[in-house]
Amino acid sequence: MPRGLFITLEGLDGSGKTTQISRLASWLKKRGHNPAVTRQPGGTPTGDRIRALALDSRSTGLAPLAEMALMFADRAQAIAEIIEPALAGDRIVLCDRFTDSTEAYQGGGRELGSAVVLELHRLLCAGLTPDLTLLLLPSLEASLARARRRNERTAAHSGQDEGRFEQEKGAFYGRVWHKYREIAAREPDRVVVIEGDLTIDDVHEQIVEAVSERLLTAGHQG
Ligand code: TYD
Repeated sequence: MPRGLFITLEGLDGSGKTTQISRLASWLKKRGHNPAVTRQPGGTPTGDRIRALALDSRSTGLAPLAEMALMFADRAQAIAEIIEPALAGDRIVLCDRFTDSTEAYQGGGRELGSAVVLELHRLLCAGLTPDLTLLLLPSLEASLARARRRNERTAAHSGQDEGRFEQEKGAFYGRVWHKYREIAAREPDRVVVIEGDLTIDDVHEQIVEAVSERLLTAGHQG
């Protein structure tokens, strides 16, 4: 039974994942692939409702464990509705954030620890592991500045307020950043770290290089 390739993008808020995922999707399409592109939280009708609940500033009373449970509820739905069917159909899946985000943000940022996140992943996601994770990790300072600018733009243009995470800067982001580093060190074969404050084109080049290599290994036509 053929099986597709599961690629995730990770990084701090404002690390440029969204731009890179759409460029990667275009690059793959030009080469005859038909990637399924999704994001977490969100990406399914149920997930979009969970996303609103989890990210809206008005939910500031959300307990860290409740927040983690929402992230996994969203993920379990996305796996059932999008990811597994696409992989079973031999498609490439590009997912903007996955369990590494929960480990970094809830495990690291909210200090719930990695163990509970990994255990929930095992139970609720059947241990589904990405074939490749692209971790965009510019310096903490640069990431914070971009996140702040983006949050201001979003709030001004849409009236929507997804600023709850952006409100908690400094120490919180530092913990997230360090947890991402820890994950990358633990799983060097899966996680490719794209570091430094690079241009959008440079990051795209590095992503394409890593993805091409995985496509060859997986036996897809590059
Ligand atoms: P996202 O919209 O991807 O933000 P960005 O485009 O800035 O990367 O994700 C929204 C927020 O959700 C982001 O601050 C990270 C947070 N998040 C968690 O805390 N835990 C999770 O498991 C996931 C998937 C996201």
